[in-house]
Amino acid sequence: MKILVVGGGGREHAIIKAIRKNPAVDVVYALPGNGGIAADAVCVPIKATDIPGIVKFASDTRVDYAVVAPDDPLAMGCVDELEAIGVPCFGPKKNAAIIESSKAFSKALMKKYRIPTAQFRTFTDMGEAIKYVELMGAPIVVKADGLALGKGVTVAKTVLEAKEAIREMMEGGKFGASGSTVVIEEYLEGPEVSVLSFTDGNVVVPMVSSMDHKRAGDGDTGPNTGGMGTVAPNPYYTPEVAKRCMEEIFLPTIRAMNAEGRTFKGCLYFGLMLTADGPKVIEYNCRFGDPETQVVLPLLESDLLTVMRAVTEGRLSETEVRFSHKSACCVVLASRGYPVKYESGFELVLPETPEGREIYVAGAEARDGKLLSHGGRVLGCVAVEDTLQSAVSGAYALADSVKFENGFCRRDIGKRALAALHG
Ligand code: AMP
Ligand code: GLY
Repeated sequence: MKILVVGGGGREHAIIKAIRKNPAVDVVYALPGNGGIAADAVCVPIKATDIPGIVKFASDTRVDYAVVAPDDPLAMGCVDELEAIGVPCFGPKKNAAIIESSKAFSKALMKKYRIPTAQFRTFTDMGEAIKYVELMGAPIVVKADGLALGKGVTVAKTVLEAKEAIREMMEGGKFGASGSTVVIEEYLEGPEVSVLSFTDGNVVVPMVSSMDHKRAGDGDTGPNTGGMGTVAPNPYYTPEVAKRCMEEIFLPTIRAMNAEGRTFKGCLYFGLMLTADGPKVIEYNCRFGDPETQVVLPLLESDLLTVMRAVTEGRLSETEVRFSHKSACCVVLASRGYPVKYESGFELVLPETPEGREIYVAGAEARDGKLLSHGGRVLGCVAVEDTLQSAVSGAYALADSVKFENGFCRRDIGKRALAALHG
């Protein structure tokens, strides 16, 4: 089989490595992939947002199946267009991808179907938005409506900070059209859990839970990033919490999307906060998380491609989705200065990875037989072990054995999870 994977980051590398385990796979094409992914797939320089280019490639190459991984092409209708030429896909159609691409949509959906989430109001008028935060006081959360690479959220400690965020989004044009509508919501507190799930619109099968580390600096300081590291499973996500989430959040969401005529097929990501009031949705993503995927897929014991095709064909209920009981940790090596200002082009020398270790390449370019850093997040160093403690140590040992002069990582990935486990 010829498989096409749209995207070119660490998440896509993890997906590609898992798909290649299926013996029926002859070749994987990554569009555009990257210099590191090139070790595992044929990388074709077509951008993930070049939908006509992707469709033409899929048609010319006669690919058998496509996985559309990033949010942008999903929001642009890449799955709709590939399916229109007869290529079966993993990923939601445009009308379902809106669950991520518009926070105004997802918040209204949760309100209508009584899915627990932070109280909120949506604004298109800046003056009204400012009046509202003055009335509500701080802390308060300001979110740009559209896709903003995980950076369109300000958790404001003061009213002044909230007002500045609103001005920046609505008048500064920092997020372009994504910021012309803002959602202002109640500040919630509690541990955060990421749950990725497979769903074919009929059933929803949660994957092993995980914990992201979104801030750039140790101790959750510094600016928000796409994610600096992950662990799985998330110790806060107990079987009791999982049961509540299934009943109060996961199933109601699938049913709500069906009722709206927006059946969701693919990976639905639930970003949850476990508040004193019970689990609440912080955000939905219409795709695999990055770097959650880098810890979740190494724990998947079932064959990924088989599960994906069952999702596409609406046969998920008959398909086994089994996870290992081990733990995984991913430490992201990023370019110094990320997410603000950073340079590319530094040489990467990667060690051999034995069983239980993986290095997923998020941003690299191959030049003259060398691998050079390219972009903010560069590598995801992953260890799978029997305990979380050894997975964390293993991931750091792996990260420390990489040669990447301009690289940095957080030194406390997994610390909070270990404290929750061991006190
Ligand atoms: P998001 O991009 O929506 O996941 O938000 C980024 C981060 O902002 C989340 O991971 C939370 O840590 C924080 N956040 C978002 N919404 C809220 C909220 N209502 N209350 C407290 N923190 C929030
Ligand atoms: N790591 C968070 C995300 O993928 O949105």
